[in-house]
Amino acid sequence: MSEEPKEVLLRRLEGLEQMPSIPVILAPLLRYFEQPLESLDVQGAVVLISQDKSLAAQCLHMANSPLFGRWQRVDSVRSAVVALGMQRMRDIALSCSVLKLAPADQGGIDPTVFWEHSLGCALVSRRFARGIGFSDHGKAYLAGLLHDLGIIVNLWILPGEFGRAMELARTHRIPLHEAELRTMGLTHCESGRRLAEQWGLTPELVEVVGSHHQLENATHHRALLALVSLSDLLCRMNGLGHGFIEERQVNFLEQPGFALLLKECPTLETFDWARFTFELEGYLDEVHRLVSLLYRPK
Ligand SMILES: [Fe+2]
Ligand SMILES: [Fe+2]
Repeated sequence: MSEEPKEVLLRRLEGLEQMPSIPVILAPLLRYFEQPLESLDVQGAVVLISQDKSLAAQCLHMANSPLFGRWQRVDSVRSAVVALGMQRMRDIALSCSVLKLAPADQGGIDPTVFWEHSLGCALVSRRFARGIGFSDHGKAYLAGLLHDLGIIVNLWILPGEFGRAMELARTHRIPLHEAELRTMGLTHCESGRRLAEQWGLTPELVEVVGSHHQLENATHHRALLALVSLSDLLCRMNGLGHGFIEERQVNFLEQPGFALLLKECPTLETFDWARFTFELEGYLDEVHRLVSLLYRPK
């Protein structure tokens, strides 16, 4: 256990002025893309994305990746929005702007590994949502992308304690949140919830960020939460985790998230896990390539 009791760590997390601020471009993008898809127009999206030249360039890299279904090269933001459609472009623009958020301390976890896990989880959540008939694929993508925000907070505010948790997880090959609980008495869910609230994210995103490892505590948005929690587990079990492979056998049908999600999406009963896992393996190289292309620490 950390030398400092949980209460002291929680008080340190209240030091909001040290918390990472929302990347400048992300706030207007979130506000714009939170509107219903049918009310968004190509010109509005192009103007917004083009305001930031590096964001526009990154969006084009991503738009040309097979992960976003593009097989013919696009060379302008406008042609990308037209060719990929507004929903894909929303996923791309939000991913690129979130990736601008750099962890302050890079001792605990390699930021490239962190963003590969986040982007992988976003893609898996979206694909999973589509496969089981979950209503909002875009929301699933964004929730997957942001679910581990608390890790960034821990790197900023509790770097020493988090570094020890990461070390314990790595050496014993246990889930990171279990190691955090053992060493700090709290997990990145608690710290992430504070940042998600401070940023004014929607209540369902706050719930995913704040409860994805404690599904039993959640009272709202449980289907989305369960979907992201299962996608997170799938990524961790398939080489898109936190830089190490956890040593344990996992039966997805016995996960708490499975029963929760089944209530909302009955097609989950016949979902083809083997095929899904096989597809996920195909994502790996492209996720690695894309993140190293997009994410260049300063
Ligand atoms: Fe997590
Ligand atoms: Fe995660």
